[in-house]
Amino acid sequence: MTTGLFSAQSTAPASAPTRRRAQIFAHRGASGAFAEHTRAAYLHALAEGADGLEIDVHLTKDGQVVCFHDETLDRTTDARGLVAERTLAELRRLDVCSWKTSAIPAEYGGLRSQLMTLGDTLELLLTAGRSVRLAIELKHPSPFGHQLEDHVLRTLLSYGWDPETSRIGVKEGQAVEVSFMSFHPGSLMHLADLVPAEKLCALFAPVTSEDVGARAGRTPLGTAFRPLISAVMRGAVKDAEALVWNRQVGIAGPGMSFVRAHRAEAKAWIARGAHLRVWTVDEPEDAQLLLSLGVQELTTNFPGRMVNEVSTQASFS
Ligand code: G3P
Ligand code: CA
Repeated sequence: MTTGLFSAQSTAPASAPTRRRAQIFAHRGASGAFAEHTRAAYLHALAEGADGLEIDVHLTKDGQVVCFHDETLDRTTDARGLVAERTLAELRRLDVCSWKTSAIPAEYGGLRSQLMTLGDTLELLLTAGRSVRLAIELKHPSPFGHQLEDHVLRTLLSYGWDPETSRIGVKEGQAVEVSFMSFHPGSLMHLADLVPAEKLCALFAPVTSEDVGARAGRTPLGTAFRPLISAVMRGAVKDAEALVWNRQVGIAGPGMSFVRAHRAEAKAWIARGAHLRVWTVDEPEDAQLLLSLGVQELTTNFPGRMVNEVSTQASFS
């Protein structure tokens, strides 16, 4: 059986000890079952034995760190417009569940307690009764620039986060271990003033023409600037790869499609001592491919399924 502060939690009966071949992060919580970034999704992930949560963060108009994936409210709430243009009090009045399901077990809280701030999330994890990992993705471009990183760090420090270990201790042998992720190298380098390199994760995905079109559509420059936007996006991927090669970050966070297209690079990073945290891994065959490459961390919308997939019965021969 694995030992240590962040050893795997077994979901098997006590008579059948298991070993985890990779750690499992719940992507936006157990977002396959409940609306992403809700209390229900986070609690369900813990109940299913996830080693950690992956969360996306934005700043509100009044400088609060809230857990949302999109910069707008349109897809996941009953309102429209930018997260950045609402106060936390305004956001707390929104329905963040019903777009997916409003059927929430009572133990996961009422409909109006489902929106999560970073502080709410830390309180939930600090009372989990076991060690849990928290992977915070800083969403950019933010209208607040690097104030996003500064507010995240300030919130963590207010909960007793230790920059040297990147942990918030609860008691002996039980802690929340925090890592920081971004597609934007500038965000990671801003954090690097305070955060150890091994807790920084550079994210990347292949740049597709759909991604370029979507980004072009969101800028005032419009579609005429697609080639420029494409070059900038490809440059960010190259910069992120350089951070891994240069060991300025200790974790590489490629998407599943990136790993399929760049297996040799993934293996070389692992051989060089990097940790790989791959997203979004929901299919058993993808998990098996990643395990065969030696990938250490998987991010999934279905943590229970993936915990089973990476768990093997321990042998005592
Ligand atoms: O864990 C990284 C992954 O979440 C990045 O993609 O769009 O789901 O935030 P996205
Ligand atoms: Ca994310």
